[in-house]
Amino acid sequence: MKILTIGGTNFIGPWVVRHLVTMGHDVTLFHRGNTKADLPENVHHIFGERSQLQDYKSEFERLSPDVVVDMICYTESEARMLINVFKGITRRVVAISSMDVYRAYGIMLGKESGIQEVPLTEDSTLRTSLYPFKDLPKRPLNAPPDYEKIVVEKVVMSDSELPGTIIRLPMVYGANDPLNRLSPYLKRMDDSRDAIVFLDMIAKWRGSYGYVENIGYAIALAVNEKAAGRIYHVAEPETLSEVERVNKIGELAGWKGKVVSFPKQKFPEDWDLPLNSEQDWFIDSTRIREELGYKEIVPIEEALKRTIEWERNHLSIEMQKFSAPFLLDYATEDIILKG
Ligand SMILES: NC(=O)c1ccc[n+]([C@@H]2O[C@H](COP(=O)([O-])OP(=O)(O)OC[C@H]3O[C@@H](n4cnc5c(N)ncnc54)[C@H](OP(=O)(O)O)[C@@H]3O)[C@@H](O)[C@H]2O)c1
Repeated sequence: MKILTIGGTNFIGPWVVRHLVTMGHDVTLFHRGNTKADLPENVHHIFGERSQLQDYKSEFERLSPDVVVDMICYTESEARMLINVFKGITRRVVAISSMDVYRAYGIMLGKESGIQEVPLTEDSTLRTSLYPFKDLPKRPLNAPPDYEKIVVEKVVMSDSELPGTIIRLPMVYGANDPLNRLSPYLKRMDDSRDAIVFLDMIAKWRGSYGYVENIGYAIALAVNEKAAGRIYHVAEPETLSEVERVNKIGELAGWKGKVVSFPKQKFPEDWDLPLNSEQDWFIDSTRIREELGYKEIVPIEEALKRTIEWERNHLSIEMQKFSAPFLLDYATEDIILKG
């Protein structure tokens, strides 16, 4: 099939493109040309700005892709433009979404009350509080203020002439992770810290993760016609608590220390995460396994080993400081540890 990806050169996209090519598809990427990725030689590029998508309509018509995979649709206006431009040109649109659409995420942010049952399924209730990042002074990954995957999904799934598919992703890790999710832990491990200090509520919190090569494979599978009109989760089948996960990373990294957790009262006030960690955030991925035959092509241990190797060579504490300014304050950690 002829596949057009919107994006495709940063973190998850290159793995989508590589898997699509391996599956025998003819792949073209639409992007600005600012980000370079190591991609198969036989892919094609259309260079342009997605806010001007309509200006490339004749090029898209000439290409006539069977499926368009939109990696970077964040807002209602982007979704509307996507549908308007490609209606009559392509047979289907696949849009990448997130597990942040669920009420559980609103509860974690303190914007909704109660506790939502986990694991979340594709039919679990969505948030009613929209635009989760609009009031944040700094938004993750430079998301626009009107970032909202709930409205993106609604637009993509409601056009009677152009069927859609939605893939809701978990927290993704692997080489080129712009969030460097493993960095603060690996840094402490590589600094031979005896212990990593956790707030007890965070230690037992459980969230879904996925390894970038596996996530890319799942998205590539979604070009299959069977996926039309469907919403899918992708995530690892076993959900560890944060303490279990960091211990696992430590084991694979050859760290001799241990993770220790303490109640909130032991921590300075400004270390309190603005997150309701009573709410777990993990998803069930049975549907994509049963309907599209998805399974992890890289086993989890190998995925973590590859990520550790990459993160060790690309340590970036800056991104983690963004969400948790207290990370890597060894002096305060030592005071907590001494009790
Ligand atoms: N990372 C996670 O944990 C996570 C979790 C849940 C959901 N997601 C979702 O995963 C998706 C994938 O993100 P990714 O960065 O890995 O995707 P990607 O497809 O690897 O990279 C983003 C691409 O978009 C292009 N691009 C950016 N702005 C553009 C613009 N204005 N016009 C045209 N092209 C543009 C960039 O290339 P140029 O710079 O060359 O333009 C790059 O190719 C996002 O929708 C995100 O919400 C991620």
